This record gives sequence, structure tokens and C-alpha cells, in this order.
Amino acid sequence: MNIINRRPRRLRKNKNIRHLVSENSFDLTDLIQPIFIEEGIDEAIEIDALPGLYRISEKQISTDIEALYRLGIRYVMPFGISKRKDHCGSDTWSENGLLSRMIRAIKEACPDMVVIPDICFCEYTDHGHCGVVSDDQIDNDKTLANLAKQSVAAAKAGADILAPSAMMDGQTGAIRNALDEAGFAHVGIMAHSMKYASAFYGPFRTAVDCEIKGDRKTYQADPANSREAYVEASLDEQEGADILMVKPGMPYLDVVRQLRDVTHLPIAAYQVSGEYGMIKSAARAGILDERQTVTESILGFKRAGADIIVTYYAKQIAQWLNN
Ligand code: PBG
Repeated sequence: MNIINRRPRRLRKNKNIRHLVSENSFDLTDLIQPIFIEEGIDEAIEIDALPGLYRISEKQISTDIEALYRLGIRYVMPFGISKRKDHCGSDTWSENGLLSRMIRAIKEACPDMVVIPDICFCEYTDHGHCGVVSDDQIDNDKTLANLAKQSVAAAKAGADILAPSAMMDGQTGAIRNALDEAGFAHVGIMAHSMKYASAFYGPFRTAVDCEIKGDRKTYQADPANSREAYVEASLDEQEGADILMVKPGMPYLDVVRQLRDVTHLPIAAYQVSGEYGMIKSAARAGILDERQTVTESILGFKRAGADIIVTYYAKQIAQWLNN
């Protein structure tokens, strides 16, 4: 007879025992649903690059938000698709610009929905970069002044937490100061601490009509780096971030874990458009079981140490959990 003292399979014997010892789980209070809102359209348009996701019209905001709320979604991250692009993205700080209108419309439809807008310029600039371009360079400090204006506008419109994603040096501090000075000390910052220059954003850029000249490698991080995440995250902490985010998600779970081990702040991970697209296409081709794959991917984020996951699958997960 084989003598085996330790038999891990004992704890896998049946579903109830497996549940008893399971280490991680998630529910809808961990998930943020990004949404795309397009200026000047009447009906929703399915996004070719993101099957199953839509660019909705401003008129549809209330019905869509109410539907998400009924499903149990409590956190949304709105992205605007602007028809009023200029060299610096000035529409973002106009009180009647798309960003402010979307936030107000969501809050009017559903005051209890937590609104966490992406704070950036690439959807609002004619060159597609995330800041002010001068002499072919992205001008960090001029962009900071504009991020401050955009953030105050978003807070005035009713945003609960801001998610600045421009990757400019000092952006968390500049936004924190501007919010505090304008009387919005209660509005939080979910810092994109480590946002990589990633090919996984491909479908998103098509979705928001963002054609960029050049690339974002002078401001977004090099996929080869992980120590740099400590530098970025500690700066964000010092500058007043409330939550630290890593983006993309699945290829960077090591970075999520690294930050989890050194910070006491909550950590968010962003399962980006390319990650959604890969799972969706494989599921549609019959190669992967969609629900099991998505569930496993979200558990992967939790296991790595993420408290919060931004995912295009949030609504679908809510529908699965409701059935
Ligand atoms: C804008 C922004 C991007 C994404 C979120 N905010 C694109 C980029 O930096 O090029 C990508 C999200 C996704 O792919 O789902 N700064």
C-alpha cells in the first residue's frame, strides 16, 4: 500500500468542501463597467472591434444606466467619443462639454451609481495624444494645467472618483491640488499608476475613433519594466492617490502582485479592450467557454491581489449572476 500522508485531493472532493476552502471570490461590488457615449448620434452603434459592446447616444444614457443599476452594477467608467476635437481637448473642461454632460446625465438617471470617469485628452484631441503637443513633444506641464481644469469640471458635474490616465508626471498631485482648491476634497483619485504602452488597447482606439500620430511610448510605460511600477506607485501615493491601478490586466498580473505586497491602498486592475476581444472572439469561434474563461480571468485578478477590476465583461457577469 502507498503511504501518502498529505492528500490535497481530500479538500477537492465535492463542491461544498471546495467552497469551504476557496481562497478568492468576487462579486459585482468589485467590478467597474466602462461605457462609451458618442456625441451626435441617435441610435447605439455596435463596436466592430468589440463585439457585444455599443457606442450609445446621449439620449440613451438614462435607460442604459438604469438597466445596469437593476442588474446590480454600481460603478461605471464613462468614455466620451467627441465630435469637437481640437489641439488640446478643451471640450473636456467646458461646463457644457461632452464629459460634463455624460456625468450629469448618469447622476441624474441614477444618483446612487458611482461615476468614475477616465480623465485624459486622447478622445478629445485632433492628434490623438493624451496631452498638449508642442514641437512634436507632449508637453508635460502644460498638460497638467489642462488635466486640473478637466478634473474640476468633472467634479462639478458630479463625478465621485476620477481616473486620470494621461500618464503625465505629477498628474495625481496637480489634480489633487486643483480639486481641493475648488472645494472637491471629497472627490477621490484612482491613479493609473502603471499604464503600459500596450498593443492590447487596439480595439479601444478604434472604438473611440482615436487615430494617433506616432505612439505613446514617451509617456506610457515600457512593457519590459516592473521595478518602475514601484516608482510610479510611490509617487502616486505621495501625491494623494486613493486607489492605484495597473493597466492592462492579464499580461501584468505580476505587477499587480508586486504593488499589493508594498502598498496599503486598494489596487485596481484594468482588463482592457484587447483582453475582452481575445476572450470574446475565441468564445464566438467556439474555442473557449465564455463564462468559465471570464470567471477564471477575474479570479486571476483577485488572486494577484486586485481589489477592483475594470472590465467590459461587468454587465455580462451581472447577467450570468442574475440567472
Ligand atoms: C485613454 C485610454 C486608453 C484606454 C483607456 N483610456 C487608450 C490609450 O491609452 O491608448 C484603453 C482602454 C482599453 O483598451 O480598454 N488614455
